[in-house]
Amino acid sequence: MPSPESALLQSWHHNANAWIDAIRSGSIESRRQVTDQAIVMAVLGRQPERVLDLGCGEGWLLRALAQRGIAAVGVDGDATLAQAARAAGCAPVHVASYAALVEAHVDIGRGYDVVCANFSLLHQDIIPLLAAMHALLAPGGALVIQTLHPWAVSAGDYQDGWREETFAGFQGQWQPMPWYFRTLSSWVRALEMAGFRLADLQEPQHPQSTVPQALLLVGERRPV
Ligand SMILES: C[S@@+](CC[C@H](N)C(=O)[O-])C[C@H]1O[C@@H](n2cnc3c(N)ncnc32)[C@H](O)[C@@H]1O
Repeated sequence: MPSPESALLQSWHHNANAWIDAIRSGSIESRRQVTDQAIVMAVLGRQPERVLDLGCGEGWLLRALAQRGIAAVGVDGDATLAQAARAAGCAPVHVASYAALVEAHVDIGRGYDVVCANFSLLHQDIIPLLAAMHALLAPGGALVIQTLHPWAVSAGDYQDGWREETFAGFQGQWQPMPWYFRTLSSWVRALEMAGFRLADLQEPQHPQSTVPQALLLVGERRPV
């Protein structure tokens, strides 16, 4: 029986092409209406020269940042997604699992002004990964995380734990993805334990929606 962590990354190997279609066709309404702009504005707000996009997927955020003159580097654990990002003009894009990044097995550069993670922190043990990203930031650098808003997706069970995304309603062939639900305090604690000071917390929300579409956290690198 594979661990939920390995089943999670394996689901991305299976779902890569369906994900590329979903993103590039603009079929995820919350992204189009709210969350794409929210992460771009949050990253730009740091006035970065160099950005690392952690779990960059097919690279839409890398392209959005490059269009604004920012040197953006991607890393993702799925080779199909990384190749799609490169083919769409993003470079460099590294292929590495989060486990490999924690072990520093892959050189993905350092001295970044921002490390961003847009809906890409889906596993349980995120503190070692965030600590590894801390080490890649320049002094004064920041971590920008956008994720599912825990109050919007708790479904009446507000405690940390593994859940399953079935991608019901998405076009194409999808394999269910295990993902780790985290309460708001659990997110904030993880940031602090990895060496960050919470500098901003946003709840991007469409004016016609009764719940926020995302939780956006900005952690500033505390000196070690
Ligand atoms: C929901 S997608 C988000 C992609 C992109 N950030 C975006 O905004 O479209 C999650 C991404 O996290 C990556 N990912 C998930 N678990 C990973 C792991 N353990 N190691 C490396 N990448 C991982 C997946 O390959 C996938 O590209």
